[in-house]
Amino acid sequence: MAVRSLVVPAHAKVNLGLEVLGPREDGYHELRTIFQTVALHDDVELRATRSGITLTCDAPGVPADERNLAWKAADALRRHARIQSGVAIHITKRIPAGGGLGGGSSDAAAVLVGLDQLWRLGLGPPGLHPLARRLGADVPFFLLGGTALGLGRGDETYPLLRQVRAHVVLVDPGRPVSTAAVFRRLDTRLTPREDSHTIFRFVSRDVCGAEAFPILVNDLEPFALEEAPELTERVAMIRGILDRERPLLASLSGSGSTYFGLFDDPQRAGRARDALKRRGFAAWRVRTLSLGQYRASLARALARDGARGQGRSAHHGDHRRQGHPGRRREAQGVRLHRV
Ligand code: C5P
Repeated sequence: MAVRSLVVPAHAKVNLGLEVLGPREDGYHELRTIFQTVALHDDVELRATRSGITLTCDAPGVPADERNLAWKAADALRRHARIQSGVAIHITKRIPAGGGLGGGSSDAAAVLVGLDQLWRLGLGPPGLHPLARRLGADVPFFLLGGTALGLGRGDETYPLLRQVRAHVVLVDPGRPVSTAAVFRRLDTRLTPREDSHTIFRFVSRDVCGAEAFPILVNDLEPFALEEAPELTERVAMIRGILDRERPLLASLSGSGSTYFGLFDDPQRAGRARDALKRRGFAAWRVRTLSLGQYRASLARALARDGARGQGRSAHHGDHRRQGHPGRRREAQGVRLHRV
């Protein structure tokens, strides 16, 4: 039997804006957020084995066992599809953990999408969605990608017509923050509200172009800084450096602690990244990934499985010209594929 394996890119996200409306009965919080995928990614390698699930990871400090969300994703799909065979997962980490960039959630979604292909299940995003929701609030977004509205716990996601194309400078202030702890702090002072409309104004295109970004806020930012007070000084410095290069937006991502600047000018983004590095910060300049770019990134990875497993990739170009079966399935909303 041919050794079957594939490597799925697990991209990071930033939250361009995040409003917390109030607590929910399930213990979570009702959110409105704008998710945005970026090019920075972990690599999730999946190798078909006879039985069981194993997980290895090159980053110290990331649990390499059943505590890892990627392991839980494989386990959930294996049970759901009643699969007897197993998988060996290896994660090459590039996304900082505990940084509000969704690294763990994205790894889990990459496992779902990759195993759907490796095990030939044909579930596609709609079939994987219920499993993704049970794994975590951010996981469903990574079945979609691009610029998307997130509602509910953040797990109801809708692609936006406005697909942001910009340069992003990510800055890791070097102190992971627990999402649950930030929400607990917010609970002590949050007054439930429905009257905040910045996210809907962004979505509705009430305000267009560069003017749309300054209206966005992240309600979690003050609570993240309260949770990690030693960050306050560092964040002020990061913000100052980003602001000098006039970003479209500078904000904390999710519950932190990663800060980011969004730029329409690559040179300004490059200068901001260089200045941050000179001050000793871990900083990256990356591009946003639109919905189409995200799908293309996943489709490229999934097509490589064909090359290793069954030699389909030699015909890939022909399939595209003649109407690839995967593309037809996508048209029916069943499968992620090239757009
Ligand atoms: O779903 P996930 O495990 O990623 O969420 C981590 C924690 O963040 C949850 O345990 C919860 O405390 C908090 N959270 C929340 N409301 C949300 C999303 C996350 O309270 N909408």
